[in-house]
Amino acid sequence: MADSSQTVYDQIGAAGFERLIDAFYRRVAVDPVLRPMYPAGDLGPAARRLRLFLMQFFGGPMDYAQERGHPRLRMRHAPFRIDQAARDVWVQHMRAAVDEAGIPDPARSTMLGYFERTATHMINTYLPD
Ligand code: HEM
Repeated sequence: MADSSQTVYDQIGAAGFERLIDAFYRRVAVDPVLRPMYPAGDLGPAARRLRLFLMQFFGGPMDYAQERGHPRLRMRHAPFRIDQAARDVWVQHMRAAVDEAGIPDPARSTMLGYFERTATHMINTYLPD
């Protein structure tokens, strides 16, 4: 039985992150706003980076740091034009992916809160005065 003292990684395991990322990138692959931002061709390497990052962030192994170093998420997203609409569609797909992957509470609410906040933080466009 999961309790809130366990990390998300303890609760859902590597298999939970695999299901989540698979469900998320299937949506990105056909999304007209998001797909053009991602590398042309194979989405596998991008999917792997997000999966390793999230496993590390939520208490799992530190493979992301070994491969990519410090996350610097704001900086790494600077090349992409992320406005409120892009942020909202990213969160919408991640929310659907959490449901499809069958992530149970309390992991579910921890993850959704984190995704909402972090995605807002990635917005890098500003309205003119
Ligand atoms: C708000 C909307 C977002 C958009 C449009 C977006 C888009 C992108 C794109 C286009 C990439 C490059 C793909 C690649 O790795 O080759 C990327 C990378 C990445 N994104 Fe996002 N992202 C968003 C939000 C987030 C959020 C909320 C997180 C974390 C919870 C996140 C985590 C990452 C990570 C870990 C990478 C790989 C960084 C690296 O090691 O190079 N992104 N994102």
